[in-house]
Amino acid sequence: MSTEENARPDLQSDQTEPDQTPSDQTHQSDLLEAVPPAEEAAKVAIAADRLSLNYAGRPALDAVTLSIRHGLVTAFIGPSGCGKSSLLRCFNRLNDLNDECELSGTVTINGEDIYRPDVDVIDLRRRVGMVFQRPNPFPKSIFENVAFGPRLQGVKSMAALEDTVEWSLRGAALWDEVKGRLDRSALELSSGQQQRLVIARAIAVKPEILLLDEPCSSLDPISTLKVEELIHDLKSRYTIVIVTHNMQQAARVSDYTAFMNQGRLVEYDSTDVIFTNPKDKQTEDYITGRYG
Ligand SMILES: Nc1ncnc2c1ncn2[C@@H]1O[C@H](COP(=O)(O)OP(=O)(O)O)[C@@H](O)[C@H]1O
Ligand SMILES: [Mg+2]
Repeated sequence: MSTEENARPDLQSDQTEPDQTPSDQTHQSDLLEAVPPAEEAAKVAIAADRLSLNYAGRPALDAVTLSIRHGLVTAFIGPSGCGKSSLLRCFNRLNDLNDECELSGTVTINGEDIYRPDVDVIDLRRRVGMVFQRPNPFPKSIFENVAFGPRLQGVKSMAALEDTVEWSLRGAALWDEVKGRLDRSALELSSGQQQRLVIARAIAVKPEILLLDEPCSSLDPISTLKVEELIHDLKSRYTIVIVTHNMQQAARVSDYTAFMNQGRLVEYDSTDVIFTNPKDKQTEDYITGRYG
């Protein structure tokens, strides 16, 4: 089984009911009201310092140092195999599930070193949600997919679960398409719907950070557009980190873009600068399609 298939963040069951105050029609306006003030946006959500990673001795990340800003969308681009997914998995310790993986350097989230031995990894994975390339709904109903995390967190009230499910599905721009068939299997949905369902499942536990690893690579253009619109709506509430092989997508959805090559962070700057005036020749070659 690959790490990704193993990656369902098992949420702990002994947490008390979180502050779930979902509302029906007000969700979109909630999102708009949640725009962080300028000083919030300048805060660092994730910082990596000389982060290196090997798989069975083979290097995959080489001394990556960067700060990801709170409340913005940061895109990672670069040729296949350059370490984008590996880096994302360092941000919620999913690489811990791989015994062959060796890591050095530090990662802090909101200033906290997430690799300290006393860190609650289960809670970390709730705070730092992840969505993978291929939608991976559980073989359960649409409702139960979204209610899964809150249930594990100890939410028992059916009314609270219903509210959370509706709030999350609205947030993931899927509610209108599925509201009449919440008890149907999630596997009946199209892949574009499944990907939005998985995003709804991720936001149902109210994460602070969303990691999206090529979330549109298996989607058709219309579903891709929906997910991009969703990223745009969600960014007022969450720090979003997206890996994409689609440079137009990076240019459309992100505020900052990081270009990686062979495990190194080559260039990291505002998306405008990366796409219009990159400083590094490797970045320029990549974005103009000369390799990769
Ligand atoms: N679970 C793993 N075990 C061993 N090697 C891996 C594993 N995952 C990735 N790698 C290797 O690490 C390097 C970076 O891979 P990855 O992070 O998946 O890159 P990207 O997401 O940019 O395509 C590649 O050489 C890949 O073969
Ligand atoms: Mg990848």
